[in-house]
Amino acid sequence: MNALPHPVVTVAADDRIVDANVAAEAFFEVSLAVLARHRLHEFVPFGSPLLPLVEQVRARGAAVNEYRVDLGTPRNGGERIVDIHVAPLSESPGHVVIMLQERTIADKMDRQLTHRGAARSVTALASMLAHEIKNPLSGIRGAAQLLELSASDDDRSLTRLITDEADRIVKLVDRMEVFSDERPVDRAPVNIHAVLEHVRTLASSGFARHIRFVEEYDPSLPPVLANRDQLVQVFLNLVKNAAEAVGDAPDGEIQLTTAFRPGVRLTVPGSTTRVSLPLEFCVKDNGPGVPEDLMPHLFDPFVTTKPTGTGLGLALVAKIVGDHGGIIECDSQPRRTTFRVLMPMYRGARDAEHN
Ligand SMILES: Nc1ncnc2c1ncn2[C@@H]1O[C@H](COP(=O)(O)OP(=O)(O)OP(=O)(O)O)[C@@H](O)[C@H]1O
Ligand SMILES: [Mg+2]
Repeated sequence: MNALPHPVVTVAADDRIVDANVAAEAFFEVSLAVLARHRLHEFVPFGSPLLPLVEQVRARGAAVNEYRVDLGTPRNGGERIVDIHVAPLSESPGHVVIMLQERTIADKMDRQLTHRGAARSVTALASMLAHEIKNPLSGIRGAAQLLELSASDDDRSLTRLITDEADRIVKLVDRMEVFSDERPVDRAPVNIHAVLEHVRTLASSGFARHIRFVEEYDPSLPPVLANRDQLVQVFLNLVKNAAEAVGDAPDGEIQLTTAFRPGVRLTVPGSTTRVSLPLEFCVKDNGPGVPEDLMPHLFDPFVTTKPTGTGLGLALVAKIVGDHGGIIECDSQPRRTTFRVLMPMYRGARDAEHN
């Protein structure tokens, strides 16, 4: 039981918890000794569908499953979406065994699909913009410059305005052009810690000058097969968002972490191969969190809550991570926002040839 990664608890006829495995102790964040002194309803949210499920299993004597149930409580840190499997224990009447399966892996796949779609829609838009906007703009700009030669001083400020605004639009279109760039990128084994150090140095000598950085690195992490400049872009965008979320808060803090998690395996949509994404890189901040209504569209282009934001930062991050065969996800609540990038491992020269 303790070897299982999923929380398992056994509940007696009077709802007392009689047994729990290590994963269950971790899930409820209390030890078995404490669990065993309480009844099930004390550990799940009020009105949780888990309790009627247990009743149903006792009444029917048959196993029941329910999917996507939120077992989050203030005690275990908010939202915890799980699949619940409840089965009767035939040798002890009234006893049931409950297994919880956290949804994160399945959800990662769903979300990954939506991010791919988002990146595709920008790609088409970006190549359209490049043709339909940049060319006429250079004409407008040139005309304004010609007018400037013969304009009075008063009018000159207007021609300046035209050229400045045209430049601003060109800059925006340039930022989007990265999306339509379909050329294969050069990849090589990259030391992620060197990338994160570089990003941290850039950040703390510029936009994040007042913010404390905490680094928790796994020094034994193998290299990742990636384009170094693009990875810098990814973490720069994430750290910039974290810094903007933290703002001027005196206790503002950004955490950069790396870890090896061999357990994360995903089925690639539309195929039967399972890929392993064991390299985990996180950017965490203690800002106010992502507004809840933004969550489903977080990685879409032009989604922004900032007066001067373009909303392209995270869309670009999702595209680059996706191009590298990885996924990105976000968990957010006030004072605890995590952007987690999962990447495949570099397995030597064989990988390099394929790319
Ligand atoms: N760490 C974070 N904490 C809270 N909200 C965040 C965080 N990161 C992103 N967001 C929210 O997601 C939105 C989209 O982020 P994104 O980086 O794509 O665009 P932006 O930062 O608004 O603009 P740009 O990146 O072009 O400056 C942000 O406007 C913000 O509301
Ligand atoms: Mg941003």
